Amino acid sequence: MPDSKKRGAFIVIEGLDRSGKSTQAAKLCERLEHEDIPVKLQKFPGTCLSLSYAKSTYFASVPDRTTTIGKMIDSYLRSESELDDHTIHLLFSANRWELANSLEKTLNAGTTVLCDRYAFSGIAFSASKGLSYEWCRAPDVSLPAPDLTLFLDITPEKAKERGGYGEERYEKEETQRRVRQVFARMGEEMTSGSQDSSHGQWITVDAGRGVDIVAEDIWTHIRPLASGVSGPLNRLWSDHLNHS
Ligand SMILES: Nc1ncnc2c1ncn2[C@@H]1O[C@H](COP(=O)(O)OP(=O)(O)OP(=O)(O)O)[C@@H](O)[C@H]1O
Ligand SMILES: [Mg+2]
Repeated sequence: MPDSKKRGAFIVIEGLDRSGKSTQAAKLCERLEHEDIPVKLQKFPGTCLSLSYAKSTYFASVPDRTTTIGKMIDSYLRSESELDDHTIHLLFSANRWELANSLEKTLNAGTTVLCDRYAFSGIAFSASKGLSYEWCRAPDVSLPAPDLTLFLDITPEKAKERGGYGEERYEKEETQRRVRQVFARMGEEMTSGSQDSSHGQWITVDAGRGVDIVAEDIWTHIRPLASGVSGPLNRLWSDHLNHS
């Protein structure tokens, strides 16, 4: 049971396509519920999902992209519409901002939030196209910061073996290779002592192993946060804010 004086933990699961994010998020959600810890699963782009949704076929196939901005992103990802690289990047960020208030309320009400992708994916995908890393990060500065980000690391070759990539825009091996390089840069920055720590803890998990082994590894990192977190929510990269 969570401590009633604490807020819920904000946990993000990141990684390349097919790294097992949704599989692990659903398993983790189930485990937390089993331990009587209130938990909500949130997908980006998308909205909050209950566990019953998480277990459904719907969740496993197409993400819920129901907000107006979510629908625009969905159409772009399915290659049904074309958008300038900067525009789609800002839409992804706007999708996080439009859900930020409800996310914060949920956490403050004592519910743990599990996010399947967050700002780090947004930056990794856009920067991999050649946009400036700093420019990509700017619109996400000051979003609610996770207490813990689990980066599920896998080689694009191994990810491809998992049923192959689908039809969506970024699901190509070469794209995934470039995205992985940006994630590696972010991981180094997040874990180096000299950087701002407002983005919370970043843990790289070897996601090339069996589902249950990865789940156990993840649980060892989640357990200390399961009873809730003391103190206010941090803001992503808040040292980049210019207060003048
Ligand atoms: N550890 C694992 N070992 C082998 N197969 C796995 C493992 N984890 C997940 N899978 C399988 O790989 C496929 C992709 O998993 P999943 O949908 O969880 O990945 P994802 O990271 O959410 O992908 P996407 O980025 O496309 O949403 C599924 O068929 C799933 O059953
Ligand atoms: Mg998924």
